[in-house]
Amino acid sequence: MNNQTSSLNNKKKFLILGCGFSGSFFAKTIRQLGYTALTSSRSKNKDSNSFVFDSENGIIPNKKIFDGVTHILSCIPPDKNGKDPVLGSLQKQLKSLSLEWVGYLSTTGVYGNTKGDWVSEIDQPNPSQSRSHKRLNCEKEWIESGLPIQIFRLPGIYGPGRSTFEAIRNKKIRVISKKNQVFSRIHVADITHAIIYLLENKDYLKFHQIINVADDEPCSQIEVIQYCYDLLGLTMPKPMLFEDTKDELSPIAQSFWMENRRVSNKLLCETLGYKLIYKNYKLGLTNCYLNS
Ligand SMILES: NC(=O)c1ccc[n+]([C@@H]2O[C@H](COP(=O)([O-])OP(=O)(O)OC[C@H]3O[C@@H](n4cnc5c(N)ncnc54)[C@H](OP(=O)(O)O)[C@@H]3O)[C@@H](O)[C@H]2O)c1
Repeated sequence: MNNQTSSLNNKKKFLILGCGFSGSFFAKTIRQLGYTALTSSRSKNKDSNSFVFDSENGIIPNKKIFDGVTHILSCIPPDKNGKDPVLGSLQKQLKSLSLEWVGYLSTTGVYGNTKGDWVSEIDQPNPSQSRSHKRLNCEKEWIESGLPIQIFRLPGIYGPGRSTFEAIRNKKIRVISKKNQVFSRIHVADITHAIIYLLENKDYLKFHQIINVADDEPCSQIEVIQYCYDLLGLTMPKPMLFEDTKDELSPIAQSFWMENRRVSNKLLCETLGYKLIYKNYKLGLTNCYLNS
């Protein structure tokens, strides 16, 4: 894709709804590339490019915010009833704009438990957790909205400031071992750069409405934790067996251990040609280590 003109140009204006961990990384990067990006959060802050949007309390952005917006990225999770907070509050407004693209950050939880097998975008979603049913419902709402939606299914997101290192430093780490259990992950920089790659090459690549964004190497939690302890020069505590410790885990933590799947990135990385910055947890965690 090197010799082609980018499908993006500096006249584009991005609205990032939900400027948390992934949203703020995306906003920072897209601004560095010269684009305008406004971001939402639920409370006022000092950033002049930030505005307040809080669907639960009915705080809706002023119409002026939407002037000239061409691209929207929603990073906001489903509400407690499984409805999408953005569509619930802003659908009419969004439909009145000349939007070129709307991105939605979803989760690979919609695939459910595959007992360690690989899942790709052609597999039918089969959610088992209630939160994943809600997520699938939001994906459907976005698809049915008629907006130019592209959905990114993400596994565990990590990056500088949110990784196993923080869990170790805050003494919140639990070293748990469960036979044959793997998790997929993605570094926050790869979410941003995969999306930018797809947007820059939009005119040349076949459009896919749903795309997994995961790294190349699903693996056990223990491997990841061991790698972090090694980088820190510390000794990892002895692992506890999942069966012995599960009753002490919060319901949400328990639910993560109930699902075992390997998320395929073949569509993104082979068919569409995106090159991961952090192909595996070792590269990604080294970046976190050096930047924390
Ligand atoms: N964390 C993971 O490992 C993971 C894995 C897969 C998928 N995901 C999903 O991917 C998306 C991005 O993940 P993330 O970890 O970057 O998210 P995050 O840091 O938790 O940020 C979520 C954002 O949504 C905003 N928000 C939440 N409820 C809202 C509401 N009712 N009205 C308006 N704004 C609301 C938050 O506002 P404030 O800034 O005011 O808090 C925050 O900016 C989320 O949908 C998440 O569920 C996460």
